[in-house]
Amino acid sequence: MPRLVLEGAQWGDEGKGKVTDYLAQKADVVVRFQGGNNAGHTIVFNGHKYALKLIPSGIFSPHIKNVLANGMVINVEALLSELATLESQGVKSYQLFISNRAQVLMPYHIDLDGASESVLGDHKIGTTKKGIGPCYQDKYARLGLRIGDLLDEEALKDRLETVLPLKNKELASYGLKTYTYDELFSLCRSWGEKIRKFVTDTSILLNEEIEKDSKMLFEGAQGVMLCIEHGTYPYVTSSSPTASSVALNCGIAPFYVDNVLGIIKAYTTRVGEGPFPSEQLNDIGNLIREKGHEYGTVTKRPRRIGYLDTVVINHAKRVSGIRHLSVMLLDVLTSVPLKICYAYELDGKVINYIPSTLAEYKRVKPLYVEMESWTEDISNVKSFDELPENCKKYLKKIEELTSLPIAMFSVGADRNKTIVLEDLL
Ligand code: IMP
Repeated sequence: MPRLVLEGAQWGDEGKGKVTDYLAQKADVVVRFQGGNNAGHTIVFNGHKYALKLIPSGIFSPHIKNVLANGMVINVEALLSELATLESQGVKSYQLFISNRAQVLMPYHIDLDGASESVLGDHKIGTTKKGIGPCYQDKYARLGLRIGDLLDEEALKDRLETVLPLKNKELASYGLKTYTYDELFSLCRSWGEKIRKFVTDTSILLNEEIEKDSKMLFEGAQGVMLCIEHGTYPYVTSSSPTASSVALNCGIAPFYVDNVLGIIKAYTTRVGEGPFPSEQLNDIGNLIREKGHEYGTVTKRPRRIGYLDTVVINHAKRVSGIRHLSVMLLDVLTSVPLKICYAYELDGKVINYIPSTLAEYKRVKPLYVEMESWTEDISNVKSFDELPENCKKYLKKIEELTSLPIAMFSVGADRNKTIVLEDLL
């Protein structure tokens, strides 16, 4: 099955970058298909740490084609600075392709994100303030600039003349600084020249790779619970990380998506606001946060921590066709008291789905199965058989509660701490 979607099956930050990095070593093409630099992950190998936000995890292998597809929102300044950092770390030989149809994240999108969050006050979403929501808003309002517009003076002139008066009105309504046509025109032109060599019609490229039967990884950012369609709306991001969105966001047919791997942490985390039934606002939550270094890669915010919740995973499985799981950060749970949330109680009834309204989701009470902890250090195990019995039971319980096989698990940050039980690429 050469075309695999990787997606977070919780609220993001599941360790997708590590799995992509591992699988990317076997891939020909790695594709980011939604979101922008609100995502972020750290990849560790050969003793070096690399932070990726916009760039696909295949960037370290010169033979891999890395694609930013049309469904993305791209902050060009951030992209250029990410590339410069990677180059300064020795990543000099790479293949990068940017869709001419991806949206350009403009400076005013960042201003508007911050302003709308402060007006929302207590009702704020808790966004990363990277301008993601305002950029997608403009896309669907047909007020966006696309990457291709940066390369063509006439197209750029036309778009800016159309869009800027409206955007300036909006900025002024928040009391924010407005932009002149000239400053944005020259900024966009300079971006265009700097990225010109990477820009192409990535739908054509991806379909050619499909023809060649290339091994392709589609790297979802965020997680299903942050999906604009199927997440805990409105506490979500503005795109869909599900496998269903791959086709539209890449310009390929849906039947070319062969398989979906759901990435989960061995526990649950979320950043930003919104309901979180298995959250642990106590010593256990604090212990996991410190052991797992659970602070946002993009915003450095402390992440909220909870027990593993298989209602969430089963929801992600249903809406996006997950067929296997990869369980990350298992080592963090060593010596931690353990439970798994397997269902919710809502107004006296046991339910095993995510209610659609926040009001109901806030009222659910988690129902737990108690698990025995293990105390042995697992950070050097190389196989399932080497795990302590209670750890094996924990993984088996996840398989039982989700009816999904675990294809991989991870016991440390380094690339070689990923244990593969089933080869998916
Ligand atoms: P936005 O994507 O910046 O608009 O933020 C919307 C929500 O998604 C907020 O709760 C963010 O914290 C969350 N979010 C966005 N990107 C990520 C991510 O990569 N990991 C975890 N949460 C994210």
